[in-house]
Amino acid sequence: MNQDTALASYDDFAPESGDFLTEVIDGLSGDPKTLPCKYFYDECGSDLFQKICKLPEYYPTRTETRLLSDCAPDIAASIGAHCRLIEYGTGSSEKMRIVLNALEQPAAFIAVDISREHLLQATEALADDLPGLDVHAVCADFTKPFELPAIKVAENGKAVVFFPGSSIGNFDQEGAVDFLANAASLVGSGGGLVIGVDLKKDTAVLNAAYDDAAGVTAAFNLNLLTRINRELNGTFDVSSFSHRAFYNEDLGRIEMHLVSSRVQTAKVGGKPFKFIAGETIHTENSYKYTVDEFQEIGRKAGFRPVQAWTDRDNLFSVHYFETAA
Ligand code: AVJ
Repeated sequence: MNQDTALASYDDFAPESGDFLTEVIDGLSGDPKTLPCKYFYDECGSDLFQKICKLPEYYPTRTETRLLSDCAPDIAASIGAHCRLIEYGTGSSEKMRIVLNALEQPAAFIAVDISREHLLQATEALADDLPGLDVHAVCADFTKPFELPAIKVAENGKAVVFFPGSSIGNFDQEGAVDFLANAASLVGSGGGLVIGVDLKKDTAVLNAAYDDAAGVTAAFNLNLLTRINRELNGTFDVSSFSHRAFYNEDLGRIEMHLVSSRVQTAKVGGKPFKFIAGETIHTENSYKYTVDEFQEIGRKAGFRPVQAWTDRDNLFSVHYFETAA
């Protein structure tokens, strides 16, 4: 419990830097080389991601925000009163506020995020603005098991996971089913899931969204090497890597890579990693789904699709699922 704030509880399960080192060394030891995308979000990376969300090419954030405003009354009607809303990743406080404002007397809001600064900033502001709401912050890597704070519930309401932003796209299909199956057991019987999912669409639109003209996504991708240099005593010459992003139509996903422009060796934690010219580090996947494809993912995870909404340009979808009562 942090006494300085109005938070009802604060738990810190933030991964140790040892996890970061182990995962970076594992990834760079592979063939092809990879790095986990969850490490994009240090302070600088979180700021860059906020900038990405405002880019003209990056349609997901503004499209989902508008879509949520439109469908929030329907979602709130399905959820009912006194729910506990659990958000994975506090990417945009705007989206959670749209849902919270539509809900009938929400009992508690629990934010789970890997980025401590961002998490505390967003939840403290929310607790100040909505004094009647129990706001809990959990700093954790939500791709791994973690514990939710014990919440006293006066009245019976649903537990509902809110997972906006299409971050589910970072998992492959099998990983998405596993992740959502965990969410299903977390919310229990009669629980809900509100999730934003980016839709399959024209390749040129997708490619532009992940390779913007201003180079913000490039800076976001390259910042991962800067972070490794700073936090893990890495020796990457960041200027000899460049950003590459493209839609892989066969696999239905955007891939982001960092491309080495020359033969070089970079050390991390004293361990050398050799690169040939043109060799890439695969840093992120962002899977895209049709509404039907994603409803099938939800079913496999133990959810029943209740309703799905899309914008009129068919760019983005918001789904509401429930577990059996
Ligand atoms: C936060 C995972 C949803 O995949 O669109 C944005 C991350 N990467 N631009 C996405 C991201 C490059 C984003 N997610």
